[in-house]
Amino acid sequence: MTEVERATGSLYGLWRDTPSGFVEDVLGESLWSKQRAVLDAIVDHKRVAVPAGFGVGKTHLAARAAVWFTNVYPVGTALCITTATRFRQVQRQLWPHIRKVVPRAGLPGYCDTVQYKMPDPYGNDFVAAYGFSAPANDEAAMQGIHMPHLLLIVDEAGGIAPMIGHGTNNLLTGGHAAMLAIGNPAMDDPASWFEELCIEGDDVSEPTTVTIPISSLDSPAITGELAPYCTDCPSGVARHSLADHMPDQDWVDRTIRSYGEHHPYVIAKVYARFPKGGGGIVVPPSWVEAAMSYEDPTGDGWHRLCDLGLEGETAQHTVREGAWVRLGVDVAADGGDEFTVYRSVGDTVEFRHASAGAANDNQVSVAEKVLEEIHAAQSLADALNSPTPCASRSTRTASATAWCPCSNGGRRPAGTARRSSASWCRSPRARTTPAPSCGRGASATRCGWPPGRCSSPTRHPAAGGCASTSTRRPPRSSPRRSCCPRRADTPRSSPRRP
Ligand SMILES: Nc1ncnc2c1ncn2[C@@H]1O[C@H](COP(=O)(O)OP(=O)(O)OP(=O)(O)O)[C@@H](O)[C@H]1O
Ligand SMILES: [Mg+2]
Repeated sequence: MTEVERATGSLYGLWRDTPSGFVEDVLGESLWSKQRAVLDAIVDHKRVAVPAGFGVGKTHLAARAAVWFTNVYPVGTALCITTATRFRQVQRQLWPHIRKVVPRAGLPGYCDTVQYKMPDPYGNDFVAAYGFSAPANDEAAMQGIHMPHLLLIVDEAGGIAPMIGHGTNNLLTGGHAAMLAIGNPAMDDPASWFEELCIEGDDVSEPTTVTIPISSLDSPAITGELAPYCTDCPSGVARHSLADHMPDQDWVDRTIRSYGEHHPYVIAKVYARFPKGGGGIVVPPSWVEAAMSYEDPTGDGWHRLCDLGLEGETAQHTVREGAWVRLGVDVAADGGDEFTVYRSVGDTVEFRHASAGAANDNQVSVAEKVLEEIHAAQSLADALNSPTPCASRSTRTASATAWCPCSNGGRRPAGTARRSSASWCRSPRARTTPAPSCGRGASATRCGWPPGRCSSPTRHPAAGGCASTSTRRPPRSSPRRSCCPRRADTPRSSPRRP
């Protein structure tokens, strides 16, 4: 045992007050000025908030903070917990750094996916650091963890839900506990926990909290700061400055050109400030960002669409067993409008088809496309054991593109709004392509369709079926009586513009 170990309980106890020194001396790595400032602020503050631009080395430094903290105290007395908005960020962004650094620097212990285990004096493995992410409303996620030395690292802090963010306070109850919260400011969430924390860090009456912003313009690739050589790239890569990994002027210029100087994206992701205003935004960009980075659920009751074995189902996302399958069809009108089909399966929405112009000239082809989508939707609903019939809704029910694959009057699924423009189909019939039907019930005296065209004679025999001598155009029947006023496969004698 070395003198240092005897005195501090750890081989690296001398670096307790200098995380940046630990990174440079023990890990043999280089840092740029802001990374150094952030790391060293953890020693003197209970909360360090770092709103930062894209790619300035936030995750890199957060991982080094975890490795430093777990090595400078006696094993068994220090715990580092890392979290982020999504588990994927914990597992695939921050922890790969830790998994690389520990063996590379010859530090004690070993890492698995999101745990760093160190041998304690009794020969057991002590989990000195681990990563997790908590569901937005899990009030208990940040409770019950206590250690003589505790460091909480919140990466991607801009997206942390308020309940989880405020819950971090439960971990910082007393003794030696600290938090590093680091991330891009959210673009449109004026009351985010991270923004509150950053404001607190600027308040001189809150000396235990400090805010250290890092704008992309602070990047050494832009300021010309004399940054050391990169020590992170594998040997064999030509020697280069770590500034080469940082955002440069070209990136900043292009981003500003693309969005505009005052766009919330530029304010948040380049200048690392919290955008104000944004009133009138119906779908906040943070929702879009959250949806894009959403981790698909797995396990019982969830199915990847492409794993269902259905022809043409190539989508990779996961849907819940029994999900309701619905189609939205927007039929092209005159001119350059688009014919589009979207499909919602449970709480996911997929783009399925878009065509415009001459591609939609042939209404039968358009009809075929919609029918194809309806059949695919129904197969999917069957594969998912969906208890609710598949439903399709068209923007133009009175036209040739008011679709329903059942032969007569699909029922409106329970719980759905009664809308005269909606056309719903019933699952058993949806799997076959039925003969055209006028859609009128047995009580109808005549349907007005040309003789032999309607498949419903058995439904209104009293009136002699549909063998009417009328040559009138098939009526635009009331959707209240039937969900399928016209069949897709019933061509119109003379096309009428919707
Ligand atoms: N001190 C350093 N030495 C060498 N490479 C570094 C250093 N700091 C950051 N890098 C490298 O720069 C790149 C960006 O770093 P990092 O992913 O940590 O940025 P970030 O700010 O977390 O990005 P994002 O905004 O996308 O989350 C990575 O390849 C990282 O390894
Ligand atoms: Mg990052």
